[in-house]
Amino acid sequence: MTDFFVNLGKHPGSRKLIKLLKLPIVFPQELSRSTTAWEVRPLENMNIIVGNVRKTQLTSIIAKTLASAGADVHVQGDTSTLMVYNEEGTGYGRIPKQLQSNTLLDEFKPHAFVFDASGMQTASELQVVYDFFQKKIKYLGTCGRMIIIAQHPSTIKDIEAASAARALEGFVRSAGKEIGRNGSTSLIIYVDPEAHDRLEPVLRFFLSYRSAYVSGQPVHLSANVKIHELPYFTRPLDQKIALVTGAARGIGACIARTLAREGAHVICMDRPSENEPCARLADEIHGTLLLCDITSPDAFNSILDFIQKKWNGKLDIVIHNAGITRDKMLVNMTSEIWSQVLEVNLISIIRVNQALIPHIQKDGRIVCLSSIAGIAGNTGQTNYSASKAGVMGYVQALAPTLYDNSITINAVAPGFIETQMTSTIPLATREVARRLSSLAQGGLPEDVAEVVTFLSSPGASGITGEVLRICGGNFIGA
Ligand code: NAI
Repeated sequence: MTDFFVNLGKHPGSRKLIKLLKLPIVFPQELSRSTTAWEVRPLENMNIIVGNVRKTQLTSIIAKTLASAGADVHVQGDTSTLMVYNEEGTGYGRIPKQLQSNTLLDEFKPHAFVFDASGMQTASELQVVYDFFQKKIKYLGTCGRMIIIAQHPSTIKDIEAASAARALEGFVRSAGKEIGRNGSTSLIIYVDPEAHDRLEPVLRFFLSYRSAYVSGQPVHLSANVKIHELPYFTRPLDQKIALVTGAARGIGACIARTLAREGAHVICMDRPSENEPCARLADEIHGTLLLCDITSPDAFNSILDFIQKKWNGKLDIVIHNAGITRDKMLVNMTSEIWSQVLEVNLISIIRVNQALIPHIQKDGRIVCLSSIAGIAGNTGQTNYSASKAGVMGYVQALAPTLYDNSITINAVAPGFIETQMTSTIPLATREVARRLSSLAQGGLPEDVAEVVTFLSSPGASGITGEVLRICGGNFIGA
């Protein structure tokens, strides 16, 4: 399924015609996406402007990340900050430039702004953030990125500094809504003091075109989960065994393909009725087919037997993607459809995980599909919203129990994604759902798959117990 207005907007002729006829139609910006295999330099030759409140311990990490990812860095900061960028950039042949007050930003349309606010001590220093962004934001290139890095308020003892750190979140959420028309996104990355060394892969991902449909929210990095593996920037999932439920079509099929692209062997699992498409997919990605209804009471035995026989019980990644909707207003909702949805979307995840977790290897990853319906609620979806909110509560509650096993568990909450599931929504509702995001369009299964693949990679070790929205900064569910 495709978005009519995004497609129409791609043609200069139709844009001209709409202008000529003075029709009140604003075409959504077609998003730049990166769907080929991970590369060493995802930011090759992209202009990125960096700033800070003051030099911090994160300065050298940000400088190294940008230089090693191939970016052309322009520094707005004091001499000591510039020296750090020089030192880190030299090793990669990327000498940064100092941003002058008279630099003509419209000449090079920066791909991103990265602002280090981790050194912020007072609320009045929020002025520095305003000063950095206010004049420059209009020059952000199409499908650009605006990222603020800060310390998480819960780890800051000083009350004023903690309030200021939280204020940044509101700033980022609002700015995301303003820059969305341009296809651009905003994000705040909160980094715990012990988790500085986990920032690089996260920053790379969110600055790249792989995070096209993630906007207006915080991501929290902690050092809670122990690490045994270093992050890899190419083929991060080599040698990993991954299970994807509901892999026959839609988002699940796309996740399976993307995990396989990055080196994982994927067990494509779906209901027996989906034999044909699921077998085709398993064949295409050199994975393995497992036909099993996730709600059957012995589903976990089938999975365990399968991995025992094929890989001596080794399992690294589990993606709980299988999901269903059975919409009805609460007054008309039968007990049957209530429990069907709860069973597939929540209860089976809890049951299957209980059995699988002892078999998941160190540096293992679990990602569960939630939905923004679980944050905002939807008319006619009390069953679906309850199940998806339950998934969020589940990952948050389970994550601390897995710290010592070196396993992360997260949920992703997609907004409106163009799939078979959403193609059944009536046209008018579908149109509204698409335009409700800051990016004014629905997302693609690829947008979800790229985020899930990143969360499955060794470099995502700092993220656990989180719910990441993939909704283009939807106006509901923020
Ligand atoms: P889809 O309906 O296209 O695919 C779902 C897959 O799950 C199908 O292959 C189906 O056979 C499988 N499945 C259903 N029940 C199963 C069971 N009992 N055992 C094994 N497999 C089963 O759905 P779509 O759109 O690809 O969604 C995937 C996930 O993303 C779901 O959890 C959904 O709730 C979630 N999501 C989707 C959004 C969207 O806009 N498409 C928005 C938010 C969340």
